[in-house]
Amino acid sequence: MNTRSPAVRPTGTTQVLDHPLAASLLTSLRDASTPPPLFRLLAKRLALLLCMEATRSVPTAQTEVRTPLTVTRGVHLAKPLVAVPVLRAGLGMLEAVTELFPEVTVGYVGLERDHATFEPSLYYSKLPPLEDRAVLLLDPMLATGASASAACRSLEQAGADDITLLSVVSAPEGIAKLHEQHPSVRVVTASVDEGLDSHAYIVPGLGDFGDRLFGTL
Ligand code: URA
Repeated sequence: MNTRSPAVRPTGTTQVLDHPLAASLLTSLRDASTPPPLFRLLAKRLALLLCMEATRSVPTAQTEVRTPLTVTRGVHLAKPLVAVPVLRAGLGMLEAVTELFPEVTVGYVGLERDHATFEPSLYYSKLPPLEDRAVLLLDPMLATGASASAACRSLEQAGADDITLLSVVSAPEGIAKLHEQHPSVRVVTASVDEGLDSHAYIVPGLGDFGDRLFGTL
């Protein structure tokens, strides 16, 4: 029996969401004329789809439920979830996770990219307990992989051993770096783009996600 969703093509530990709705949402996000209010709405919708895929393998436990007619078997999630948006762009994906999983706990990681070296530095970290929890790291643009790797490092140092990165657009360079430095981290993304330009922006990409989300262009 094929138990894998036909909507997903696995590539190592990276899963590319292959769904017409995701592709159409991403096309509108890429469109340079999409204004911030619509960008926020579309980003949230795409994050919902990514979150559904990222949580496909979360363990469940058997339970019983009384319907109006009888008692039947059901399941509940057996592993608590933690969402960790990387400030600030990851905030555009957080509401999708909290709506799908209202009981999720939320941590924050603040990373900024040096515009000359492109190296990230951690300026803020506030994390709930991460041991024995499924961590959803929210970072919409996996570019060089430096920020995602730094975020994963800080999560692992805080005890996380089950991390899935939800990314809207990924560059092959970023995926390779993340898998090399953090082989156990899964990536779920809506697209693997062509590569990076000389400013480490993803091409074709969608520009600066945070600027487009918050209208700071
Ligand atoms: N961060 C962004 O917001 N966009 C890119 O293309 C790369 C990093």
